[in-house]
Amino acid sequence: SKIGVIFDLDGVIVDTAKYHYLAWKKLADDLGFEFTEEHNELLKGVSRVRSLEILLEIGGISISEEKKQEYLISKNEDYLGFITKMQADEILPGASELLDFLDKEGIKYVLGSASKNAPLILRQIGLFDRFAGIVDGNSVSKAKPDPEVFLIGAEKLSLEPNKCVVFEDAIAGIEAANVANMTSVGIGDKDTLNEADYNFKDLTELPQDFFDKLMN
Ligand code: G6P
Ligand code: MG
Repeated sequence: SKIGVIFDLDGVIVDTAKYHYLAWKKLADDLGFEFTEEHNELLKGVSRVRSLEILLEIGGISISEEKKQEYLISKNEDYLGFITKMQADEILPGASELLDFLDKEGIKYVLGSASKNAPLILRQIGLFDRFAGIVDGNSVSKAKPDPEVFLIGAEKLSLEPNKCVVFEDAIAGIEAANVANMTSVGIGDKDTLNEADYNFKDLTELPQDFFDKLMN
């Protein structure tokens, strides 16, 4: 029977984690504490506001709501400096090929991302019009691991959750897909994403017949 696909953006279609890292690191530098790439793992898939809270916890810093708003704005301005330079050559290996394959098979796909910058990034890399729907940080109220983002994605696909396949690089995203009763596919380190139904190092590792068995 019919299935559909929901794609996370950051870490699945593009590697924006490195830009988030640089922008958060700049803030940590300004505040005078170290922010490592390991710390950055904790921010993957997590909303912007929650990311700042985690960062401040790491630095052992407590500040006013007003200051937080200020930092959220300046971090995003720094991040925008990177992503407004992005182009199609930053699409991760295997992603374009997978979308082509899904188009050919008539399998619909939507975006399910926590990022408020998702539409901008998709336009930068020329993939915006390919998606049957976009669910991003502007349209959800509850962040991953809450399943809201993917459940809205299923509605856009007009499919039951158990007919949806989610591609995710973050633990919070895999959890969200599992809670939503969807098929979860972890892209990245399989020990980190051990709760996923399937694991692949990257999208090029996906076997040609991957979707066949899911359609029965
Ligand atoms: C994605 C990333 C997170 C990021 C979140 C919000 O889920 O993996 O690291 O914090 O989006 O992104 P935004 O672009 O709205 O700041
Ligand atoms: Mg991600």
